[in-house]
Amino acid sequence: MDTRTPLEFLLTRRSVPVRFMAGPVPDDDTLRGLLTAAARVPDHGKLVPFRFAVLRKPAIDRLARITRDVGTAQGRDPDKLIKQAAAFGDAPLTVAVICTPNLGSPIPLIEQEQTAALACLSLVNAAEAAGFAGHWLTGWMARDPDFLRAAFDIAAPQAVAGFVHLGTPLQSPPDRPRPDTDAITSWVDR
Ligand SMILES: Cc1cc2nc3c(=O)[nH]c(=O)nc-3n(C[C@H](O)[C@H](O)[C@H](O)COP(=O)(O)O)c2cc1C
Repeated sequence: MDTRTPLEFLLTRRSVPVRFMAGPVPDDDTLRGLLTAAARVPDHGKLVPFRFAVLRKPAIDRLARITRDVGTAQGRDPDKLIKQAAAFGDAPLTVAVICTPNLGSPIPLIEQEQTAALACLSLVNAAEAAGFAGHWLTGWMARDPDFLRAAFDIAAPQAVAGFVHLGTPLQSPPDRPRPDTDAITSWVDR
């Protein structure tokens, strides 16, 4: 059980890269709860400018294949493509958070994209809070028209805000250096 207080959680939360996770994955009811938490984000205009696509193993394998096929057709670096496809291939479960902005709304596009990004972070956090591991990745695939058409049958302005890979942590990898709060903060009195 996670014994951290909410603030301790926020002060220590972190991603766990796909290579440090394995099954089991959240069952459907648990995942529905994590997605409900992930959808509870600030949303200017209450547009809900995001959708979740829960990608089970065959679907993730399909995305790995599309990454290789589209990337190869575009002449991308084969070594990088192997790694990018592996991030899908090795993921126990992936939720694609798709930004679905409404361009007819007065809310600026960037604010709608920010809301979709918040849903990604909230999903990573919800996973950790429930004892799972989460890792938010994008890569060229997130905005590439050929990939998006083949993978999700979507086109701009829709795009993937994040592929959030989920699993169970195998170990806690070393944390990375975190920002020095004093170095990035100014206290403004006038
Ligand atoms: C929008 C966005 C896209 C990202 N895409 C990638 C990516 O494609 N590849 C990668 O190695 N890390 C990517 N990252 C960074 C990972 O999520 C990284 O593991 C994360 O910064 C860990 O931070 P945390 O431990 O505070 O969660 C991305 C982060 C963000 C916010």
